[in-house]
Amino acid sequence: MKTTLTALLTLASASMLFADDIVLDLDASISSQQILLGEPTVTWRYSASVTQGPASTLSLIPNSFLGPIISVNTGDSVHIHQQNNLMGETTTHFHGMDIPEISDGHPKDAFDPGESYDYEFIVRNRAGTYWYHPHPDMMTGMQVYMGLKSFFIVSDPQEQALDLPRGEFDLPLCLHDADFTAENQLVYSGANMMGHFGNTQLVNGQPNYNYSAATKVYRLRLLNGGQSRILKLAFDDGTPVIVIGVDGGLLEAPEEYPYLLIGPGERYELWADFSGKTVGEVITLKSLLYDEFAGGIGQGGERDIMTFTIDRAEEETLTLPTSLVPMGEVYDVADIQDEKYWPITFENGMFLLNGEMWDMTDMTATVENERSVADELELITMTNHEGNIQFAHPMHFHGRQFQIHSRTMVDPDSQDSYNTLKDGIVDSGWQDTFMIMPNETVQFLVRWSHHPGLFMWHCHNLPHEDMGMMRNFLLSEPTCPSDLNYDGFVDVADLLVIIGAWGTPFGDVSGDDITDVSDILGVISGWGACN
Ligand code: C2O
Ligand code: CU
Repeated sequence: MKTTLTALLTLASASMLFADDIVLDLDASISSQQILLGEPTVTWRYSASVTQGPASTLSLIPNSFLGPIISVNTGDSVHIHQQNNLMGETTTHFHGMDIPEISDGHPKDAFDPGESYDYEFIVRNRAGTYWYHPHPDMMTGMQVYMGLKSFFIVSDPQEQALDLPRGEFDLPLCLHDADFTAENQLVYSGANMMGHFGNTQLVNGQPNYNYSAATKVYRLRLLNGGQSRILKLAFDDGTPVIVIGVDGGLLEAPEEYPYLLIGPGERYELWADFSGKTVGEVITLKSLLYDEFAGGIGQGGERDIMTFTIDRAEEETLTLPTSLVPMGEVYDVADIQDEKYWPITFENGMFLLNGEMWDMTDMTATVENERSVADELELITMTNHEGNIQFAHPMHFHGRQFQIHSRTMVDPDSQDSYNTLKDGIVDSGWQDTFMIMPNETVQFLVRWSHHPGLFMWHCHNLPHEDMGMMRNFLLSEPTCPSDLNYDGFVDVADLLVIIGAWGTPFGDVSGDDITDVSDILGVISGWGACN
């Protein structure tokens, strides 16, 4: 009986070959852009075209050397055919997206100039502000710095049902910085323990960035797309910092902060209400001063990020929603199936994760406490207080959004400097990158991806990453793929999940990311208690 069902299941999966909803050609090549007065700057650039799907999938950031914004919907099947026209190997990672190993852009899958690679996945993520960038070993920082990065925006029906600013009032802003030679060319310091701090602040690739705004509410999708700099953001006119979204999408409800701390790789969405402003007003988004010891050498200086000039009066009817989007599953530490302890240390001039160094030569060499089982819920404890050198690190895990469980400052001597930035740390909602500050312990709860395979976790301070502050982790096949509500039993409740998720990725048992007949057969063949 079971064998017949398994055979049927395989057959049903094989017959369900859906056509791709979206097919893109993506090219990475050497280009140039007028950034400063005088000589144009040589940059590296993503450009793309739509082969199949809506033309609105791609939108260009005006006057920018950054790549096109890619916009998709949850459940879309996406096929990105990428050509490498650079001088070295590259690979593309869709940061924050829960996608199969083969399309994750791991450095082991880098491909040479003149070659191409096909990224194929079904969008399992909720609506949110994700992004894409290269990920080749030791060259990620350089390639991102030269311009290879942009937004990957996901929408879904829950988000579309809300009254949020849309169209021109939905504004993606990539915050980064750079250094230029006297001839206007980009210079990069590369892998080093301090990081890279560019003197010129850029927003969406432009210096002295000014946005002409109306007296309206804006949804600002902020991406820290910089190399190393941790920003402490606030508006100089006292416009409240109201966070509506984080890495993995909208919060359950808006939250107000005195300022917002955003480290490299992180995204936050703000509800910026300029409806009470008068025409002619100029509002500056600043990064405020904080204690260098709280972030590490080079961090903490005050700087202007960009300005908004109110240049027209327009009527605003939107009001801040009291609730946004439910979390879905809220993890409970009582339900964890395993737990891991991963310290950050500094030895012989290198930052180590879990006591280990990155080793590109053997991609099968995972260590015992960096292996997990797909779909399982775990508690991860990361510490940043051993030895005598601590830096702040933006830690990122591929594949899955997680929930921050706790954050503890363990050193009373660090409390004063920590106090200069701690009130801007946003731990709510679904996160894929979080700041761990010197002498902190952070715990998070994660339900690993449904996709088995080799994924990675690393520091997103790109010079640290390129020094090898990266680790692999290996997910083995889920033990009970048909237990869709994770209660330990495959039963009627799981069939109900399938019916509710029909046609989406969320009732997938068979591993094809689409809920269909094959998944009903999967539940029947797995019926009973999980073991
Ligand atoms: Cu945004 Cu592994 O990276
Ligand atoms: Cu780091």
